[in-house]
Amino acid sequence: MDTTGTIFLPPGQSTISGEVDALFNFILFASILLFLLVVILSGYFVFRYRRRTVPGTTYGKDHNVKLEIAWTVIPTILIIIVFIWGFRTFLKMRVVPKDAIEIKVTGQKWFWSFDYPEGVNTVNELVVPVDKPVKLLMSSKDVIHSFFVPNFRIKMDVLPNRYSITWFEATSAGEYNLFCTEFCGTGHSEMIGRVKVVSEKEYGEWLEATAIPAEGISPVEYGARLYQSKACITCHSVDGSLNTGPTFYKKFGEQEMMADGSSVKVDENYLRESILNPNARVVAGYAPVMPTYQGILKDREIDALIAFIKSLKEDTTANDE
Ligand code: CUA
Repeated sequence: MDTTGTIFLPPGQSTISGEVDALFNFILFASILLFLLVVILSGYFVFRYRRRTVPGTTYGKDHNVKLEIAWTVIPTILIIIVFIWGFRTFLKMRVVPKDAIEIKVTGQKWFWSFDYPEGVNTVNELVVPVDKPVKLLMSSKDVIHSFFVPNFRIKMDVLPNRYSITWFEATSAGEYNLFCTEFCGTGHSEMIGRVKVVSEKEYGEWLEATAIPAEGISPVEYGARLYQSKACITCHSVDGSLNTGPTFYKKFGEQEMMADGSSVKVDENYLRESILNPNARVVAGYAPVMPTYQGILKDREIDALIAFIKSLKEDTTANDE
């Protein structure tokens, strides 16, 4: 159910968000009410029964059975309400509908990749159809990450050596933020993706177009697309600016100093090695933090990325997206 945003969260845009928000608001307002009641009464009693030297002042009875029953029974009822309500919502969030599309999510330092049953693979962009349940089967290649889409009110840890599962059904088309919400190292704040919710027709078209991506475009264009969609852009600039990794600008054909003091010519084979086995030869001045793209990029895609990097060696073709 769609709900409006608050200072805590953006508008809810999944089937579960209305329920999550209602429960959250109930707990929040009940807590504020009880807090005020306790603080205001405490303040009043401190004043009312302050130490006085008036002789003969009495301080009333030492207990009140009706009051004590009230402040035991009312909070107990409140807690039972929260438990039953929370448990029912929790079950809904855990039990995946049978007709859900299953997408494999992999977290690694520092990006997300998504594998579709149709063989399509994307990085940092999850494309899903609207009004369809989507099951996410998630695991991590290294440390603990956490998959969080505020608009859908879902958050689930992504662990190495174990699968975790979550699901959602988006109720309106649009683009939503995806965050890693578990501190996972220096690149944690850059582990940001998008969830693109499209109509079922557009989803089908997208799957088809992505499954045969190189059709009708040049390798350089295809490489430029992959540079963005496979998240190279997160660490490597194409305009010479400094980042987590070396820039691609005017790099092809140059001699590069390696961390071990050797020198390497940036050619096709060095680029290929750096994509598949990034820590084999690391450029001096950079940390060996790049993840391997083994199994993520197909040969054709590596070829296109190399063609793209090659195209950046000249000023005229410098292409900053
Ligand atoms: Cu992955 Cu934080």
